[in-house]
Amino acid sequence: MADKTGRASEVAWRIEGATMDAGRIFSLADKVVMVTGASSGLGERMAEVAAANGAKVALVSRRREALEEVRQRITARGGSALVCVADVTDMDAMARAFDETISVLGSVDVFVANAGVGSATLPLDVTPVVWDRTLKTNLDAVFFGGQEAAKRMIAAGTGGSIVTVASIAGFLATLGAPYSVAKAGVIHVTKLLARQLGPHGIRVNCLAPGFIDTNLTHEFLVRSDGNALREKLPLQRFGEPQDIDGAFLLLASAAGSLITGATIVVDSGHSLMG
Ligand code: NAI
Repeated sequence: MADKTGRASEVAWRIEGATMDAGRIFSLADKVVMVTGASSGLGERMAEVAAANGAKVALVSRRREALEEVRQRITARGGSALVCVADVTDMDAMARAFDETISVLGSVDVFVANAGVGSATLPLDVTPVVWDRTLKTNLDAVFFGGQEAAKRMIAAGTGGSIVTVASIAGFLATLGAPYSVAKAGVIHVTKLLARQLGPHGIRVNCLAPGFIDTNLTHEFLVRSDGNALREKLPLQRFGEPQDIDGAFLLLASAAGSLITGATIVVDSGHSLMG
């Protein structure tokens, strides 16, 4: 959205001039934050952090019961949350999730394309089925989810923030071939969307975590090869979901009002090892 001077306007996303208070700079008060893959791990954490910082949140995933548990925890702390059951690879279901969120909560100001599946398949072992399944969830759904979010934000004319979730696998040649390719694609999709959506006051940025202890990674992290890797990491520890809180809030809130097209690495220094 362009203001009178023709520049992209941050609309509701510019930090008030005099504010130096971190609570206000990173606040998501009055924002609606929609998170995919909100039933566990990083998505669950980002939804809870958004709610704790004032947002109304829409929780998207395939399992209603798991989402209900997250919703109840948020509302028990005084927050506001809506459950939207949808498979991110089903764009009709996602369109309905956007419709429901806008109808019940009023808007989608922040869209977090977090849902993802793991795949450690080596290049020579990859079958078309594994390739398609991984790319559909980890790349196609991020692109089309971001596109749908952008259309809704443009229609509302209020700007917004889209946060994608890649991985350090997106720039390291790790051996999980379809996973790495999908995550490299997410980093590039982030830049492409950022460039086209900037004039509408919509920022698009990417989180690239290293190993964080969730359902996706736990089995490896507690194995002996996981332990050996941990000792070599510059910060010598794997992450917990709360380790992404700061980077997430920076990208989602007005704190990041001039940041777009960026990828923030949260990885204990893992990617420094090459
Ligand atoms: P997780 O397995 O705990 O969470 C994944 C979430 O995505 C779950 O809620 C799951 O239900 C949802 N999901 C998967 N496919 C879906 C589909 N088709 N439709 C709707 N929801 C779907 O794993 P985690 O670790 O929280 O992963 C979240 C994101 O972070 C993923 O994109 C993952 O690739 C990324 N990531 C995770 C890292 C880690 O070490 N945990 C490191 C780097 C990236």
